[in-house]
Amino acid sequence: MSFELVDTTYEPYSQDPGYIAANEALIDGIALEGVARVADLACGTGLLSQLLIRRAPGLTVCAIDLDPVQIGIATRTFEGQGVRVVDSLDALRAAGTGAVHLRAASAMELPFDDGEIDLIVQGNSIHLMPDRAAFLREVARVLRPGGRFVFNSVFYVGTFVPGSEAVFSEWMKEAVLVLNRMNAERAARGEPGIPRKRGTHGRAFQKDWLSAEGWSAALAEAGIDTLSAGHRPVPISQKGLQLVGAYGGLAEVLMSGYPVDIASECLQEGAVRAFENLGITEVPRNWLEITAVRR
Ligand SMILES: C[S@@+](CC[C@H](N)C(=O)[O-])C[C@H]1O[C@@H](n2cnc3c(N)ncnc32)[C@H](O)[C@@H]1O
Repeated sequence: MSFELVDTTYEPYSQDPGYIAANEALIDGIALEGVARVADLACGTGLLSQLLIRRAPGLTVCAIDLDPVQIGIATRTFEGQGVRVVDSLDALRAAGTGAVHLRAASAMELPFDDGEIDLIVQGNSIHLMPDRAAFLREVARVLRPGGRFVFNSVFYVGTFVPGSEAVFSEWMKEAVLVLNRMNAERAARGEPGIPRKRGTHGRAFQKDWLSAEGWSAALAEAGIDTLSAGHRPVPISQKGLQLVGAYGGLAEVLMSGYPVDIASECLQEGAVRAFENLGITEVPRNWLEITAVRR
């Protein structure tokens, strides 16, 4: 099996039907009365914004992501869908209705005026923010009183459905076996082994995940009160696990220090093997969903 042309952007996984369904459920549950100005933080390829605009084409949305590659994909997607894309925040403010501005920037320093935003959405990335308290203060700063903050995450205390951890362990074991095989093939050809840079790791795996209650406490500290916090069980198919493993942002933390394209290839093949070994067709994972309101 070979996955030599690995796409390590977030685009393939963001088109997985299970992933879309989970995010649709989040977006469809948002009350949009009185909402005009929206920010989508760490937007990736812009799925949440697309789902919002499909529901309410009159919204103006500023979507921000650190990675210019994801912003490029999001821009092309919006343009392909006939959405008006403007190139500055001022143009977005002037548009007043029905436009998107995409920006490659950190979500830690938002470009908005105080109280300017009616709704902030954040898909599966709040766990990546390097300073949680500072990030939530920034969210509180830009939301108007009564404005909503809605997010989901699969990196939190409670994400593993009891009994399912073994599947994720099997996945990692198989990914490492693929890596070992690659190294053995290299050795047989007289080539050096795959290099590993030690000491790299990502926030998602620093084991300081919060529970739903922990997030509510952190939000309250920043002046944002939780209205609802729930766990949505989402089935991950074999293909879905392959696609999420191919995403470079996850591959670089799950197999930290290895070249991202190699880590991605190992995780894709490992997903296939893990499902085959265990004779399963899907594995459930809980998604945290929080809706909160600026005091
Ligand atoms: C798992 S993807 C989620 C993408 C999208 N929100 C979705 O739900 O489909 C995480 C995204 O967070 C972005 N990201 C990580 N840290 C960030 C930061 N400090 N500021 C902005 N974006 C960030 C990454 O570039 C990546 O696109």
